[in-house]
This record gives sequence, C-alpha cells and structure tokens, in this order.
Amino acid sequence: MKNNNNNNKAFNLKDDYFYQQWREQKLTDYPTNITDLLVNVNMPHKMDKDEKQQILTRVKKANMAIYVSDIKDSDINIPLQTSAQFGLKNINSNWLAQNKGVSSLQVEKNRTNQHYIPYTNKAINWHTDGYYNALDKQIYALNLHCVSPAFKGGKNKLLDHEIAYILLRDENPDYIKALSDKNAMTIPAREKPNGKIARKTITGPVFSVNDDGFLHMRHTIRKKFIHYADDNLTCEAVQFLNHILQDESNKYIFYGKLEAGMGLISHNILHTRDGFEDSENQKRLIYRTRFFDRIDIF
Ligand SMILES: [Fe+2]
Repeated sequence: MKNNNNNNKAFNLKDDYFYQQWREQKLTDYPTNITDLLVNVNMPHKMDKDEKQQILTRVKKANMAIYVSDIKDSDINIPLQTSAQFGLKNINSNWLAQNKGVSSLQVEKNRTNQHYIPYTNKAINWHTDGYYNALDKQIYALNLHCVSPAFKGGKNKLLDHEIAYILLRDENPDYIKALSDKNAMTIPAREKPNGKIARKTITGPVFSVNDDGFLHMRHTIRKKFIHYADDNLTCEAVQFLNHILQDESNKYIFYGKLEAGMGLISHNILHTRDGFEDSENQKRLIYRTRFFDRIDIF
C-alpha cells in the first residue's frame, strides 16, 4: 500500500517544512479522550461499511481505534475475521501463539507460556510489540479482542508512536537523529537453558520509515537486556522518551480497560498493561493478533 500523505518527507530531518505541515495536520482535532476512539459495532468480525469507516477514520488520525460490541464468544475466528476486514492477513505466528497465530492472553499455570509476562497477571511496562524481532520481521499492526476482562485491574495505557515522535522532535530534532541510527538499540541474544541461542542479537533503530513512507517504532522502557548506542545524545533521547511515557500530565496518553466484546485495532503503538486479579468466576482472556501488514487505510 502506497502512502500518499507525504509522510516520508515529514520524517526527513533535513526538511522541516513537510514535518511542520504534517505535524499541524496531525495535531488538529487530535483526540485527547479515550471515548473519542470508541466505535459501537454490531459484530466486529462483520462490520458494515459505516462501522468500518468510523474505525478507519480513527486509525488514520491516531493509529488506533477501539470497537465496542456485545459479542462475547470465545472464538478465535472473531479476531481473525475482524483483522482481515482491514487488510491484515500476514499474521506473526510466534511460537507461543496457539491457534492460527492468535495468542490467548490469560494466566497460564501449566504451560511453557507461564514463564512469559503476557501470560501472567503482572503489569507490563511501556513497549511496542516485537521490538526484539529481526528487522525484516517487524510487527506493523496489533489487534486485541477481549473475551473476558479481569475481575480487577488489567487496564491499558496507549500512546500513538507518531505523537511520541512529535514530542521528541519538538524537544530536539537531534533526538530523532540519534534514535533513527541503525545502531541505536540492541537487544542481546536470548539463550535457552541448555545454552543454545533461541534468538540472535538484534540491533536496529528505534524510529524507522518503511518503504511506503510510514513511521515505525521499536521501543521498550525496560532497562535490563537492552542497550543503546554509547553516546550522550542517544542516552538523553531515551531519557526524554521515557519521560514522555511516564509523564502523568501527557494529554495524549489514553488509559482504559477493554471490557467483553471490545477490541483494539491499531498500528504498533506504544502500550502498557496494568497488573490484574482474576476471580473464580471472572478470568481475563484477551485474543492478541499481530501482523506484518499495516492496516489498509486507503
Ligand atoms: Fe504488547
């Protein structure tokens, strides 16, 4: 899908003109309340033209939309069909995903998954998905569908990665330069208990512009098992980025809880998850699908 919005020029640091134009357009009428992202739909997996259009309008503006429905079935075809309506078909079927690449995020007690935070009830701090993936296997879209919310907690914070870019570039364009360097961020190799390499070391930029001119971001706020290019500017840029994410007064951060039948349709935006508690009768189950495609917004 080709991008006709001059985004690629907007992200060129050598020419501020297109950036300022794009920035102004982006921030005009930008939603500052999570309710602005909500779209009521009858059936998320069979949206009508108007419902789809309402989702796309929000995705175009904020890289995300949240649908609200009464569909509470635990059927993995729902997230798959929902995503397919937006051109999302090239699914990232990681080794922990169970069915057709759909991950059932819930508290696991017995499977291998229990060692991974998404499958516990613990909080997950700011990140984009798949920042540890090989550079040619980046996640461009992330969808969540809630079958059942936690009894208590489990809210998400969401921040459009293009807003993070704007806040950084406005503070100091050199921060963008540092974070766009191909050696900006390194995720060390992951070793299996037997010493074999499960994933190679991945070094790459935090911000990049893909072939179609769209901005992509890799980030995690964690301090362990990650290192950055060893220079003051990169260090300052990362500090400022993390300040943006932790700033309670940041009006661009959305905070809310997906209830049963609700779902997030988004590009790979920055997000968190609060810790949560299940009860005997109410256990959190979220279907997560991740794609190598972007949402078909044109
Ligand atoms: Fe995530």
